Amino acid sequence: MVSVKLHSGQTFSAEPGVSLLDSAKAAGITLEYSCRTGRCGVCKTTVLSGDTEALKGEASLTAEEMAAGMILTCCRRAITDVEIDAEDIGALGDIEVKTLPCRIDTITHLADNVVEVILRVPPASKLHYLPGQYLDVIGAGGLRRSYSIANAQRTDGKLELQIRQVEHGSMSRYWFGDAKPNDLLRLEGPLGTFCLRDKSASTLIFLATGTGIAPVKAMLEQLQANPELAAGKKIFIYWGGRSLTDIYWAPHLEGLNAVFIPVLSRPDAQWQGRTGYVQTALLDDGIELDHAVVYACGSESMIHSAREALNSAGLPVKHFYSDAFVSSN
Ligand code: FES
Repeated sequence: MVSVKLHSGQTFSAEPGVSLLDSAKAAGITLEYSCRTGRCGVCKTTVLSGDTEALKGEASLTAEEMAAGMILTCCRRAITDVEIDAEDIGALGDIEVKTLPCRIDTITHLADNVVEVILRVPPASKLHYLPGQYLDVIGAGGLRRSYSIANAQRTDGKLELQIRQVEHGSMSRYWFGDAKPNDLLRLEGPLGTFCLRDKSASTLIFLATGTGIAPVKAMLEQLQANPELAAGKKIFIYWGGRSLTDIYWAPHLEGLNAVFIPVLSRPDAQWQGRTGYVQTALLDDGIELDHAVVYACGSESMIHSAREALNSAGLPVKHFYSDAFVSSN
């Protein structure tokens, strides 16, 4: 057993052969994570002292980041006592991850290539989660895919998902072909650490591309249901798509001091709105970033570019929270 020290001074023991992320979890400590497979980069942190060893490939680290001592906690174990620049996300520690049976309640086309699937779980086993988190749906033959939950907790316990069609995707064939109300599936969740944080920030900025708007919708519903969380805050929601058909949802922003800014990268001739990429539109708006917190969800390339551009423009490094969608066929 070796010991791992966090930024806060908190320590936990790490088992040999177990990732830092899982060792922390076994000790009741939640470190930032999403995919758990080395692909999203959310669990990236810096080793301040000690030695670690990779248990699997760290696909989302660049050569420069590796040279600078960065690691992925989902992929690395400690081989000596180590200190890492990570923090315990206390708020998520008490939430139990469950595997539950569920049934499809409704399936609705939101766009040609996006469906909304509403799942219902047995009344006695409501899923408790924080808006922003995701779940895995487990279908026939154990096929498993991750989807953000698109709603804040509902009194009926139903869970909304927004699912984009993936070309040649095995699960897509199900959602866009065979799926029907009352189908029995299983889900595992809630997963990931994407959720509202830094309650003191005066400006909240949401950046989304495609179905990355789903967890943003859930977080906006949470803000509306808890006016004390939104009080005194200015909220900006940038949602990027290629063309107008990608903007398949319109937010209800009653009670929030919020603006919604759809941004198209390949607009049709009649589009009068913003064009380009979401992170560029945000920078063009000249929003004061010192006291802002950014929540970004969508493609890996948007998240990577947004993080770099916003940090260079003055957003404090730790004020950027993200959940990258890593696609699977
Ligand atoms: S790369 Fe570690 S959680 Fe995604």
